[in-house]
Amino acid sequence: MTRTVYVNGEYLPETEAKISIFDRGFLMADGVYEVTSVLDGKLIDFDGHAVRLARSLDELDMQAPCSKEELLEIHRELVARNEIVEGLVYLQVTRGSDGDRDFVFPDPETTKPTIVLFTQNKPGLADNPAAKKGAKIISIEDIRWGRRDIKTVQLLYPSMGKMMAKKAGADDAWLIEDGYVTEGTSNNAYYVKDGTIVTRPLSNDILHGITRKAVLRMAAEAQMVVEERLFTIDEAKEADEAFTTSASAFVMPVIEIDGVALGDGTPGPIAKRLREIYLEESLKAAI
Ligand code: PDD
Repeated sequence: MTRTVYVNGEYLPETEAKISIFDRGFLMADGVYEVTSVLDGKLIDFDGHAVRLARSLDELDMQAPCSKEELLEIHRELVARNEIVEGLVYLQVTRGSDGDRDFVFPDPETTKPTIVLFTQNKPGLADNPAAKKGAKIISIEDIRWGRRDIKTVQLLYPSMGKMMAKKAGADDAWLIEDGYVTEGTSNNAYYVKDGTIVTRPLSNDILHGITRKAVLRMAAEAQMVVEERLFTIDEAKEADEAFTTSASAFVMPVIEIDGVALGDGTPGPIAKRLREIYLEESLKAAI
């Protein structure tokens, strides 16, 4: 089946979708994105992603290409046309193309934003074997820019981080700045010690994860203790367990940090429980 994608108002086969070579997303990484998961053919936390998209656009003085209602309609249409039961919807908005290359932002009256959406079919996303095994992570320096709260498409360093992890025989990397863990390359980071869940507080230093917000709410509802504070990688290495959260992997247990096994080296009970609760609750609220 040829995938149907959405580009600037049109549903097209992926082979026919086109973007200008002058698009600022391509030339300058002048764009933002969202990834929304699909379970049971429904969107998980669409509202959270739409609100964060609006904030990212606002922070960069970029126009919204359409209303939230239209966005929901496009997401649903793509899920239906591509028969996605479990998978992801990727959305990207860029500042568009004014037909040349210029550092100065084009006039928003004449240059409209580019909007692209496509689906990724991922059967078995909820029942991911990687989550049963748990992830091995390494720590690397965080050399990204200072506005990580904006979900931009500047993903070169996160990609390099994943490659460094792969080369080291690990699955992912956590990023360290001024001695403290910021987040994972494409997820938020947590450790658990003596029943307390520790994660970095929200600021411009990390992405305000939609999954993070939901998981912290669910943890509180389940009477789990959460501390939002800075933490070092050495603290995390001494933890009983650790995990990450993201829209594409939900709650992912971490079993090893820089070669040090956590607990008995298998996914910990709190990470496993939070994954179960998250999947159950999110499915109930999916639209
Ligand atoms: N990544 N931190 C970073 C740097 C991320 O890129 C992501 C998401 C998160 C988790 O945010 P959320 O829970 O809203 O997905 C945290 C997405 C999934 C990606 O780039 O594919």
